[in-house]
Amino acid sequence: MQTSDNSDGAQDDAPAPPPTPERILQVGLGFWASKALLSAVEMGLFTELAAAGGPQDAAWVSARLGLHPRAERDFLDALVALGFLRRGGDGRYANAAEADLFLDRAKPSYVGGMLEMAGARLYPFWGDLTEALRTGQPQNELKRGGGNPFEALYAEPERLRQFLGAMTGISLGTAQAIALKFPWGKYRTFVDVGCAQGALPVQVALAHPHLSGGGFDLPPVGPVFEDYVASFGLSGRLRFHPGDFTSADALPEADVLVMGHILHDWDLGEKRALIGKAHAALPPGGALVVYEALIDDERRANAFGLLMSLNMLIETPGGFDFTGADCRGWMREAGFKEAYVEPLAGPDAMVVGIK
Ligand SMILES: C[S@@+](CC[C@H](N)C(=O)[O-])C[C@H]1O[C@@H](n2cnc3c(N)ncnc32)[C@H](O)[C@@H]1O
Repeated sequence: MQTSDNSDGAQDDAPAPPPTPERILQVGLGFWASKALLSAVEMGLFTELAAAGGPQDAAWVSARLGLHPRAERDFLDALVALGFLRRGGDGRYANAAEADLFLDRAKPSYVGGMLEMAGARLYPFWGDLTEALRTGQPQNELKRGGGNPFEALYAEPERLRQFLGAMTGISLGTAQAIALKFPWGKYRTFVDVGCAQGALPVQVALAHPHLSGGGFDLPPVGPVFEDYVASFGLSGRLRFHPGDFTSADALPEADVLVMGHILHDWDLGEKRALIGKAHAALPPGGALVVYEALIDDERRANAFGLLMSLNMLIETPGGFDFTGADCRGWMREAGFKEAYVEPLAGPDAMVVGIK
């Protein structure tokens, strides 16, 4: 963080520029840009423009999306100014390169599932952040009763598919980085615990043909996992293990167990119990790979990890995000001989424990 004082006594050549309110206003009104993008994804704007096969005028877009004439130009031009659309000299609109690759539902690189879920659920729930900060209580579906956030989320099949697709959106880049960076050559089997749709098992299996394994998750996730795995032709190598990791049952045995964006959903006792269960299910020399938007050990740099932890305040009764040092400590307590942290894609990093 920039400060105007020069605490180490060094001489700066140029005086620090005077402070401006620009960043304050940009963050404070950041929800304007956020909601414009979320609505565009909700209405399938980028998918429509990709399918059109070439630039389209505002009237065409309006007709496809059902936009009011008052809104059409400002909405589309705001998305141009934000860099998600391009407008040619003839006034017609097309997707910008990033939006075309990542926000067209018809492409396997689509990450908009996370944004669909953010628009439908997180955006209204974050409106009650102040209440969460004062009460420590979740502000999602749990507000209407129930104790397990996943039961509430999975009560409707449509919400289940949306959430599981959202997990692929947020984890695909990280899954690819883990497929590349973890020493998979030393191992033969792996299970992704809390696998959702199966983004990580698919990326690991695609990159390492010698491995077999699968995903462990709550039973309703099975058909969604199986459809996704089959769409990559991997059903012969990746199988679904239905189960509940909060029950007394053991986790499936494998050389490598992965827990991605799992531990942050749970309170400290539950985190320790999950790490202990993984330790029990691994053979000597086996590995537990935990990946999360790890907070930096000083808790001052990774704003995304810290905000994710506030998202856990909104979404769960006791969950919170944590630092690499925290996780290594819990792994050592559980009996792992060695534990190290390695950065991955974006804000995610992995903590690897070796039994
Ligand atoms: C936040 S998602 C993470 C998904 C995926 N690992 C990723 O990184 O994208 C948490 C996952 O844990 C699963 N889960 C939650 N409670 C569970 C339980 N008691 N037993 C097994 N899986 C559970 C959910 O169904 C969901 O797929």
